Amino acid sequence: MKSKIEILKSQALAALKAAKSDAEVRDLEVKYLGRNGLFNDIMKSLKDLSDEEKRTVGKLANETKTELEAAVQKKYAELEMYAFDVIADKEWMDVTVPGKKPDVGHRHLISKFIDDLEVVFGRMGFAVAEGPDIETEHYNFDQLNMPADHPSRDMQDTFWVKNLKRMVLRTHTSPVQIRHMESHKPPVRVISLGKTFRKDSDATHSPMFHQIEGLMVDTDISIANLKAVLTHLLQQVFEDPSIKTRFRTSYFPFVEPGMEVDCTCPICHGEGKLADNVPCKLCKQCGWLEIGGAGMVHPKVLENVGYDSKKYTGFAFGFGVDRMVMIRHRVNHLRLLFENDLRFIDQF
Ligand code: PHE
Repeated sequence: MKSKIEILKSQALAALKAAKSDAEVRDLEVKYLGRNGLFNDIMKSLKDLSDEEKRTVGKLANETKTELEAAVQKKYAELEMYAFDVIADKEWMDVTVPGKKPDVGHRHLISKFIDDLEVVFGRMGFAVAEGPDIETEHYNFDQLNMPADHPSRDMQDTFWVKNLKRMVLRTHTSPVQIRHMESHKPPVRVISLGKTFRKDSDATHSPMFHQIEGLMVDTDISIANLKAVLTHLLQQVFEDPSIKTRFRTSYFPFVEPGMEVDCTCPICHGEGKLADNVPCKLCKQCGWLEIGGAGMVHPKVLENVGYDSKKYTGFAFGFGVDRMVMIRHRVNHLRLLFENDLRFIDQF
């Protein structure tokens, strides 16, 4: 009897050891320890033994049963641990690996600058006007006192639109002045910002570029107003209150007098050289930077839109936005602003 118990025990332990799943263990539990299991068969047959044997064999049988029950529980626990190990292996991750940063975009230098210009002019009471990129000859030239046979048209290397009669890619933002005045009575205080086009391409010129146009018309507007507004503008956008402006006589058919506007170089402050006598590269040592054109609106232009030129005067200006962006960020080639190379753009 004793040896039967020993055999059953070693069979049960071997089977448990080989079991691979909870279900297999449960089957073994039923087979050996269940109500109709092999151990209960032994217990039942104890009654045929002598008292002496009943005691020793019964004791052994009970101990063995307890031992097997413990082995079954241990096997369950092992299988559970094993399942965790499998999951841990499969779903392992290194929480110390640095996270991936999503690429966050930002406004382009030019768009940002245009926003800033609108804010500076907004504070001075200027509204923003818009006009089309493809313009008629009428608005781009005629109304601005540049008739077809006038040599001044040569100043603007124009893209004429093929198959569209008398249409151009606007060569400047000045046609917006005309469109605005045609639909508004004085007093007028507007700026207009946008793309302009000329057949030109080098380090500081591109076939597409941006201009800001300004127009102020009222009774008693003089060059003093023009100078005040433009000086304030340049001090604001270059964030330097020491900037001075200079006006040189020039010619644009739609203003009289016409002038070129320069400002002191924001790097060397008009000195042409830096503190340790290093020559200033931005202004090529001259201390001044050319910003754009300006002047008092020509009486003929005012008359063209139906304004009384005896009663009203005004000033207008047209500046290169890209050039101002290049100065602000010390960029030396215009093309960098348009190539959209992230290695460049992300530096700002
Ligand atoms: N429209 C002129 C240009 O682009 C600039 C300008 C505007 C000059 C207004 C005077 C007044 O060349």
